[in-house]
Amino acid sequence: MAFDIDMIKKVYSQMAERVDKARDIVGRPLTLSEKILYSHLWDGNPTKKLTRGKDYVDFAPDRIACQDATAQMALLQFMQAGKKNVAVPTTVHCDHLIQAKQGAKKDLIRANETSNEVFDFLESVSNKYGIGFWKPGAGIIHQVVLENYAFPGGMMIGTDSHTVNAGGLGMVAIGVGGADAVDVMAGMAWELKFPKLIGVKLTGELNGWTASKDVILKVAGILTVKGGTGAIVEYFGPGAKNLSCTGKGTICNMGAEIGATTSTFGYDDSMERFLRATDRADVADAANEIRPYLTGDDEVYADPETYFDEVIEIDLSTLRPHLNGPFTPDLATPVGELGEKAKKNDWPIKVDWGLIGSCTNSSYEDLTRAASIAQQAIDKKLKPKSDFGINPGSEQIRFTAERDGLLQVFEKLGATVFTNACGPCIGQWDRSDLKGDEKNTIVHSFNRNFSKRADGNPNTHAFVGSPEMVAAIAISGRLDFDPMNDTLLNEDGEQIKLDEPRGIELPPLGFDVDDNGYLAPDPDGSGVKIKVAEDSERLELLTPFEPIRDEEMQGMKLLIKAFGKCTTDHISMAGPWLRYRGHLDNISNNCLIGAVNAYNKKTNFVKNQLDGEYGGVPDTQRAYKAKGIKTIVVGDHNYGEGSSREHAAMEPRHLGVAAVLVKSFARIHETNLKKQGMLGLTFANEADYDLIQEDDTFNFIDIADFAENKPLTIEVVHADGGKDTIKANHTYNDAQIRWYREGSALNLIKKQNE
Ligand code: F3S
Repeated sequence: MAFDIDMIKKVYSQMAERVDKARDIVGRPLTLSEKILYSHLWDGNPTKKLTRGKDYVDFAPDRIACQDATAQMALLQFMQAGKKNVAVPTTVHCDHLIQAKQGAKKDLIRANETSNEVFDFLESVSNKYGIGFWKPGAGIIHQVVLENYAFPGGMMIGTDSHTVNAGGLGMVAIGVGGADAVDVMAGMAWELKFPKLIGVKLTGELNGWTASKDVILKVAGILTVKGGTGAIVEYFGPGAKNLSCTGKGTICNMGAEIGATTSTFGYDDSMERFLRATDRADVADAANEIRPYLTGDDEVYADPETYFDEVIEIDLSTLRPHLNGPFTPDLATPVGELGEKAKKNDWPIKVDWGLIGSCTNSSYEDLTRAASIAQQAIDKKLKPKSDFGINPGSEQIRFTAERDGLLQVFEKLGATVFTNACGPCIGQWDRSDLKGDEKNTIVHSFNRNFSKRADGNPNTHAFVGSPEMVAAIAISGRLDFDPMNDTLLNEDGEQIKLDEPRGIELPPLGFDVDDNGYLAPDPDGSGVKIKVAEDSERLELLTPFEPIRDEEMQGMKLLIKAFGKCTTDHISMAGPWLRYRGHLDNISNNCLIGAVNAYNKKTNFVKNQLDGEYGGVPDTQRAYKAKGIKTIVVGDHNYGEGSSREHAAMEPRHLGVAAVLVKSFARIHETNLKKQGMLGLTFANEADYDLIQEDDTFNFIDIADFAENKPLTIEVVHADGGKDTIKANHTYNDAQIRWYREGSALNLIKKQNE
């Protein structure tokens, strides 16, 4: 089963009626996002107007996708729900656990040796419960979803923050924690706060060196990493129609970097072309029948200020290519201005690696545009000064690119073609050219560039750009190279200027693949045995969390006051720790080790109030746990931004942290804390962050009255006996308070299934 046309036709058959009803109820024209949301309500037909940024709404997603790192915990949880089959079409994709080192063939063999037990576990659970399984090497989840499952007007969730990539094909696709996916797999509703809407009007047409990637690099610079929080970004306008479907995917993909709930585009000819090219003519035909329902109403796009909470306008004709970074994807700099900025900030100018591909930029168009630059280096005798690495997004795109000679162009320049997997994008990169933590620069066409993200080295300065710009920079070996204006010296001593990139939207000979790596599940999985070794250090069956008792919320200690950025990478680091994704106790040894302690600005070095000694965060927390003392984590803005991994919530919960109190949360992480039955709170008064001291004790004095719309009161007792009383806001509704009271959302699901 490549995709489920009957399911799609069912969605479409309901869509017109539901959208028309919603339009009547809301009393005005609708955006595309609203059409998709209102037509996916759990209760069927819309009955009331929903308030953006306020109402919690139950939805019925059409699909679920999980990647191998997050699927382990999600499926371990699903197994506890007592179901025979998943309730909604679901796929599992093995892409995160494959380390990039020597190239695709060898790396895949090694991954199959080292992660064999995890792949076997995922395959057996998938086979048993009716889940489609994409083997290691089959491709990166979001590219595979775009090529096989995404459809205009659909709603999907995925256990990865870049699930949003499917917005390129007109979906509302949202990254969630494993716990949310488990709810939907178990046949329950999926809850989301009705999002706000940001409209991005695109005019003009891309030209020269500017690519779709530059649209989102520009938007990230405007909105910053927090600017999209709680909102769907909807792109529209004549410029949107001029972009390819996969280019739209790139833009939506990086919507995760501005914290957006998701991003989407209305159905258009580019999507129809992509559907037909990927063997889904029946989806295109079905979509054509309800075309007006798969895009926003004309009145909305004619007067966007009236219908969106915020509107941004970008003229593609004048947009300049950008490189964003280092260390944050919203630090946007037009190419040509980067040299000066780099000098000022002492960023290394020499570029060591240019990495192309990932789930963000693996399309045929991307590869042809980048290859057109690489080919010039061959033709014009330019020897690349940086190393090249390529991560194709799927076996289908790799096979097609090889058939059409694209990969060979990069290989002629000495590129290493890694497995069709995440590799360097998620720290799965055994980088051999550096000794220790040397300061260095890389450029890549991925989406994220947080510290340590690619190679685990905090001194790697990573810049994000389009594949063709990455190719040009890698050939020059310099961060300050501006291919639009600068020349390069070739082997014959001539000054060479690179021509503008040229791309082909879709393969003229069509996509092709030998073995796409898909395994369909057993139609009756009841006899399938799940494979988990008892002595496994990577997989561990779960024990339900005990509810946190009100008495335990008195006399709590501060575990860490995190300073500045604290992403899910800081809370639950990726890289080598991915190994333990299915073993909660073992992976908890990375809990918060990347967070910066506000009192000494060091990572993984906090005070143990029991003996006054400093030590690692997990060890210190285990010491509190041994004494039965609950703790609190304090944090800054956008705490938990980054990925959807629920480990960032499960680990503190497992180790005995009861509350996380911050200035603001990233949405997915806040939900994940709730799902795990702990408190995610925000300072009612942000300045209270400064009141928290290293030796503080916390008493939640009104936790017994924990209720919707009612802030909690915390007494903070300082070491000198002084006290402050602070207010903490929360966004728990009644149902979520029940999760807290039951110990976790899963405990509640189980109870309801019994
Ligand atoms: Fe993988 Fe990086 Fe995409 S980790 S899913 S390639 S964001």
